[in-house]
Amino acid sequence: MIFRQLFDSVSGTYTYLIASRRGGEALIIDPVLEKVDRYLKLVEELDLKLVKAVDTHLHADHITGLGALRDRTHCVTVMGEQTLADVVSMRVAEGDRIAIEGLSLDVLYTPGHTDDSYSFLMEGRVFTGDTLLIRGTGRTDFQNGNPRQQYDSIFNKLLRLPDETLLYPAHDYKGDTVSTIGEERLFNPRLKVQSIDEYVDLMNNLNLPNPKMMDVAVPANIHVGLHQDLIALNGWALSATDAMAIRGRSDVAIVDLRERSEREKYGVIPGSLHAPYADLQENISAGGMLHELAAATGKRIVFYCAFGERSAMAVQAAQDAGLVTACHIQGGIDAWKKADGPIAH
Ligand SMILES: [Fe+2]
Repeated sequence: MIFRQLFDSVSGTYTYLIASRRGGEALIIDPVLEKVDRYLKLVEELDLKLVKAVDTHLHADHITGLGALRDRTHCVTVMGEQTLADVVSMRVAEGDRIAIEGLSLDVLYTPGHTDDSYSFLMEGRVFTGDTLLIRGTGRTDFQNGNPRQQYDSIFNKLLRLPDETLLYPAHDYKGDTVSTIGEERLFNPRLKVQSIDEYVDLMNNLNLPNPKMMDVAVPANIHVGLHQDLIALNGWALSATDAMAIRGRSDVAIVDLRERSEREKYGVIPGSLHAPYADLQENISAGGMLHELAAATGKRIVFYCAFGERSAMAVQAAQDAGLVTACHIQGGIDAWKKADGPIAH
């Protein structure tokens, strides 16, 4: 396995680049905008293909690299379902898995630092974001933070992992890089409380100044910018209602780009084909399934995904590959459901 812990010294952020092998797919956790060139150089040097970029939560101390990585690699951007960030193309919840070739992260919902804080568990390692830090815990005094929820996330979820589980936080300001669950249980001063009320008291009396970047970073991380707006300007977007009207026509192929787990969990548009986003390039190239469908049978390709972000990227790629009828359902199956479109399970 390839595992790299990268550091942004300005914000004290740790970013993790993970892949199962050289030459294979990679994912990145908590990338920082200013370091995107560095990450992509490393991705290239290790001959990796970045397919997913994940944030543990909406950061207040730095601007996320998710948008820049999406624009430069067309990777899928992932956060928890509570997130307000518009850049996210795949939302996950407790019990889901974030999979790439050869490895997967188990998703744990660990709110408290923020209401969109998640931890990710992978083969004896846990990425705790700012929920549980090395000898500390993330502050709970803004972004819908809640010390009670954080206590529950830490004591009833993270500390129940095996003691030897390696703990990789999103931040450290003292130079520590890794700890273990067992070590934090024993030595983390914030966890030496006798009750949940004592923890709440402790967290409510930290009196910390706001992070320097907060007023810039939070709005910037919520509004990174959508691909969908550009796609719509080109006339390549259908509203859910428009798509409903042409569903079932013989000259239309509705194509679901989501992963199998998302299809099972949220259902599909009846009669749609499945062509996962990860295989897009292959499918739209000459000889590929979608290429043949558009070229040989003249069908109009209508992509959709969860919220319209992956499908917007797919429309651009398909148009670039010469599939001039390609369009997508703006807002994805989320918009389709809100417009009372039929769903099959
Ligand atoms: Fe944070």
